[in-house]
Amino acid sequence: MKTYRAAVIGVSRMGAFIDNEIVGYPTLVPPLSHAGGFTACARTDLVAGADLRPDVMEVFGQKYNVPKARQYTDYRQLIDTEKPDIVSVATQPEHRAEIVIYAANHGVKAIYAEKALAASMDEADAMLEAVERNHVYLNMGTNRRWDLPYDKMKEIIDSGQIGTLKTLISYNTYTLFNMGSHHFDLLMRLNNDQPVQWVQANLPDGDAMIDGDILHEDPHGEGIIKFANGVTAYVLLTPRLTEYEAIGDKGSITAYNDSFNWHLRQDLPLIPGKPWTGFMTVDAPQADRASSTVKLIEDLVYSLDTGEAPRGGIRVAHANIELIFAFIASHMQGGARVELPLKGSKIKLHRDRAPKQPRYTA
Ligand SMILES: NC(=O)c1ccc[n+]([C@@H]2O[C@H](COP(=O)([O-])OP(=O)(O)OC[C@H]3O[C@@H](n4cnc5c(N)ncnc54)[C@H](O)[C@@H]3O)[C@@H](O)[C@H]2O)c1
Repeated sequence: MKTYRAAVIGVSRMGAFIDNEIVGYPTLVPPLSHAGGFTACARTDLVAGADLRPDVMEVFGQKYNVPKARQYTDYRQLIDTEKPDIVSVATQPEHRAEIVIYAANHGVKAIYAEKALAASMDEADAMLEAVERNHVYLNMGTNRRWDLPYDKMKEIIDSGQIGTLKTLISYNTYTLFNMGSHHFDLLMRLNNDQPVQWVQANLPDGDAMIDGDILHEDPHGEGIIKFANGVTAYVLLTPRLTEYEAIGDKGSITAYNDSFNWHLRQDLPLIPGKPWTGFMTVDAPQADRASSTVKLIEDLVYSLDTGEAPRGGIRVAHANIELIFAFIASHMQGGARVELPLKGSKIKLHRDRAPKQPRYTA
């Protein structure tokens, strides 16, 4: 079987070193970083890296056995010279679109793009066009889509054990681009990636961050997402961090502490022999755990092998960033209902900040 040549562009925290930050987290199975994922995956060889910071790249090279000759400060040179099959774009969103578009236009066949997809809707539209025109497979790094415990949550919903899905809740959206992208993606997946009809949102710290068409920081967000199939998702800002709930007409399933533990309830008799029922707690099945990053990469490998679409795909990634900008549009209109597809969004995320310093040891 073919081994695919992989390269990482942006070899900082998520690109290469984040596993040093997640030691001891029970729900995060390493490797989480892209470089770690390509190294662990039996079907990929990590052959090259690119970053604007040669010092970070040097440590990346030592850690992942990528020689100096294959460390590039110009990602275009990497793509033209190394001709990788798969490229990761693990930069911040402000630097993602031009790299993804260049890769798609220059022979790269699969892209692992970090979240959030882009810094504006114009960029996201251009990425969608380039990726589809070139028949490129793209998965965005919203890892819970490939995380086995959330597969189990979806399996329970799809099996009808909680009846017909009515409501989804995400307990802490946090900031829209950084964490909202993760939560929106899981809510979309749990509802079978159904189209969204409208959103209504509030960004408690948003006003101070918006200056004309420029968004200077990543705002917190809360709101309502109405799906076309009638399911309503409530994305809250509570201290309950990464927790999710799916409520059907015959039960509910809740993932606590980012899937560390579970609560399954079903509509059962409250008193034996009486017709009165309620949502009673039943034993929740345990799920296996594995590296979601490796699963995401294996999904791209499967697409390259078979020509079938990956689990994520550019349309799902585009719908995700559209939700983020729809939340911003709703807030800017005083919390008005914003219909999707989103029209006329000109807002662009532009944070004036230096790249983060990766942690080189655990
Ligand atoms: N999926 C997850 O669980 C997860 C976790 C952490 C971060 N992330 C995402 O990963 C992305 C990167 O986050 P980070 O914390 O690693 O960022 P970072 O700031 O540490 O690193 C970004 C790197 O990209 C490089 N870069 C910027 N422009 C470039 C260019 N044109 N060519 C080559 N390199 C370039 C920078 O020099 C920097 O080293 C973000 O979008 C973030 O949201 C995802």
